[in-house]
Amino acid sequence: MKTNEIRGLYLQFFEKKMHDVLDSASLIPQNDPSLLLVGAGMAPFKDYFTGKVKRDNPRVATCQKCIRTGDVDNVGKTARHHTFFEMLGNFSFGDYFKKEAVSWAWEFLTEELKLDPNRLWPSVYEEDDEAYDLWKDMIKVPEERIVRLGKKDNFWEVGVGPCGPCSEIYVDQGEKYGCDSPDCKPGCDCDRYLEIWNLVFTQFDKDEDGNYHPLTNKNIDTGMGLERVASVMQGVTNNFEIDIIFPIIEQAEKMSGKKYGVNAETDISLKVIADHLRATVFMVSDGVLPGNEGRGYVLRRLLRRAVRHGMLLGIKEQFMYRLVDTLIELMGDTYNEIQTKRDYIVKIITIEEEKFAQTLEQGLQLLENELEKLKDGEIFPGTTAFKLYDTYGFPLDLTKEILQEKGFTLDEASYKSELEAQRNRAREARGEVEAMGSQETLSLSSLDKSKFVGYSKLTESGDIKSILVGNNEVEILESGQEGSIVLENSVFYPQGGGQLGDRGVIKTQSGTFEVLDTQKKGSYILLKGKILEGSITTGQQSEMAVDQILRAKTQYNHTATHILHKVLREVLGTHVEQAGSEVGPERLRFDFSHYGACTLEELKLIQEKVNTIIGKSLPVTTEETDIDTAKKKGATALFGEKYEKHVRVVSVGDYSLELCGGTHVKNTSEIRYFKILSEGGIGSGLRRIEAVTGEKAFEILEGFQQDVEFIADSLKCQTSEVVQKTETLVQKLKDQERELNQLRQKMAGSQKDDILANKKQIGDLEIYVSKVNVSDANNLRDLADSLVENKETVLVVLGAVIGDKVNFVAKTTPQGVKSGVHCGKIIKEVAQTAGGGGGGRPDMAQAGGKLPEMIDEALSKVLPFFE
Ligand code: ALA
Repeated sequence: MKTNEIRGLYLQFFEKKMHDVLDSASLIPQNDPSLLLVGAGMAPFKDYFTGKVKRDNPRVATCQKCIRTGDVDNVGKTARHHTFFEMLGNFSFGDYFKKEAVSWAWEFLTEELKLDPNRLWPSVYEEDDEAYDLWKDMIKVPEERIVRLGKKDNFWEVGVGPCGPCSEIYVDQGEKYGCDSPDCKPGCDCDRYLEIWNLVFTQFDKDEDGNYHPLTNKNIDTGMGLERVASVMQGVTNNFEIDIIFPIIEQAEKMSGKKYGVNAETDISLKVIADHLRATVFMVSDGVLPGNEGRGYVLRRLLRRAVRHGMLLGIKEQFMYRLVDTLIELMGDTYNEIQTKRDYIVKIITIEEEKFAQTLEQGLQLLENELEKLKDGEIFPGTTAFKLYDTYGFPLDLTKEILQEKGFTLDEASYKSELEAQRNRAREARGEVEAMGSQETLSLSSLDKSKFVGYSKLTESGDIKSILVGNNEVEILESGQEGSIVLENSVFYPQGGGQLGDRGVIKTQSGTFEVLDTQKKGSYILLKGKILEGSITTGQQSEMAVDQILRAKTQYNHTATHILHKVLREVLGTHVEQAGSEVGPERLRFDFSHYGACTLEELKLIQEKVNTIIGKSLPVTTEETDIDTAKKKGATALFGEKYEKHVRVVSVGDYSLELCGGTHVKNTSEIRYFKILSEGGIGSGLRRIEAVTGEKAFEILEGFQQDVEFIADSLKCQTSEVVQKTETLVQKLKDQERELNQLRQKMAGSQKDDILANKKQIGDLEIYVSKVNVSDANNLRDLADSLVENKETVLVVLGAVIGDKVNFVAKTTPQGVKSGVHCGKIIKEVAQTAGGGGGGRPDMAQAGGKLPEMIDEALSKVLPFFE
């Protein structure tokens, strides 16, 4: 019976027993900080078990994706351990209890799966007579096949939350799996009795302090490992040989050229790869990204562990990403998410494999070198393990595993202290910034705090409460002086949430102050700038006016940023998180998490989509609410950002909803146009988009248009012909360059003849001195080289005017050097004459001079050396 069939039969069976069949929840627990990853079918239902939340139908059945990494070291070594597995479960939230749970479990196993009842052995918690009697009297299992077990085996709990005694069902796999002990029965350590189903009678709620509180409603939580049942139904000896896993092993066999079932070590590596591939693909599809903390670390550890096992198998190139499609074929119909996110999954795995591949060999080398230094029984230094982690990306468990394979242990204490020291350094570095922030407090004599009141108005009158020059309060600010003004109510927006501070003017009866920036300091809003005319004193009444044009432009950019955020998640994927932004009147900057550069098509699509939303003229509205309501509505909050209890939510039609304190347009049509200027990387996994909106975007387009017109004019063609004309021109230029080079070569050839005709013979030495025509210093040297070629005792000195300078080269043969020629000395004097300097070796020297007109005079210095 195929695994998919078993899964289907189970869910249908419980559907007939009036259960709601639900899809598997994500591997990432929702609203449950006590869990890193979902590791049991019941995990998503904790609130139903405790009664905190009620559902109309108290019966549910699921097949839940699970990750457990507690026994990761055993994966591959045993027949049953997995990190990723599927758990079939039927749940009762205060509805049916032991009787139904027991009887349905039996019915499913014996009538649907048609397992031989004589092979099934139930166990019960040692004190649970009720369960014992149900098996004995209702199901009529002979008493010698019902086993009472202690808390270790038959009481189910994980961390805090619902838990209780349980009853497990074992399948007798036959004597050949047994240990031959006369006492062998469920609970024995050997492989004969395989536990396939755990029925938990959830009747307690365990708190943080370890106390068990009886639940008012008794619940049922059952869990049947799908891979185990499949292995029984398919008659294979271990879970890795079932139909939805073995093809991955076969694929890995092909990649490595190693066979399964020949060598124990090879089998371990093949199984590890198969298991970790499943875990990796499902984690990535649920939104986990490789990292150094929490879930990200679990993922990184598994993926890197698999990569290393690939290496042990002799696989040379990256391979994990190539197994993704095999898994999708096996499980993509059941779990659509791995199919729809296929490209994304492949990309993330490829990147992580690449990262690790870059350092894996070097790291292993370092590890080997260290091991060579150690004698048997010596402890591996924690500092090296830390270096492996920090510099080479070796998860600690991986280092430990390799050491274990080689019979060494790690000095974990010193590893931890290295890690701690590094964290402290990071904390201190952050502390400095925080300390800088904390200096930002301010206390003014006349006012406790100021408030921003400029969401819907840009002018306001108010008394000047305080004037600051630097950090000092002053009474008066005079013409030309710089300072800050503080009022109780500010229509100027203080920089925050990515939006830059407003600019504008403040007028009193005696003077005008230009606001160049608005900043928060402590609980005050500081209007920073300088006096344009007259003077301003504290206590004066003033009229504030924000520069409405700048504010409007800033607002186009701010609302566009919200739209862009949403569009990025649509186009690139929901892994995109905002990592920072800066919104001002000139442009917007948006930083976000993404694994690689956006392609040109993606950027085009992003720009198009943002403009489509702008074109829909969506109203932009704001609402004040509490954080929980906002989150329930699905408002995007920035990860790691602290929000007050009362928050402001900005909606762009029903397209985007974000927590935001900034100012926005009233309607998206105000933005008019959005144009991306650039996209680039700003750190590992972080990208930045810069863009403009409104007039600025049109200005840029207009600029492009003018450039095109200018080009068309220069090319003497229509603007519509510019592209074609440019292509033709570029081609023509290339052709001409080629011709020119040919000509130059020819010319050089004829120059050579002229030079050779002008030979001076002094003793054995042939001397050629000449002014030549070449395009650059390289050609000059090449020409000199070609002149000395195949000659015995010869000296060549050439000069050429190149641009507004003059270059010289002198070259001789080994025989020339032997006869006493020193090119360096000759060239020195030559170059000096032409206003330059330089020198060089006896056999070759080059130099330049600033006085091209002196070239002949300079070259005339050569012969006197030999006369
Ligand atoms: N929650 C129980 C288990 O995971 C069924 O075994």
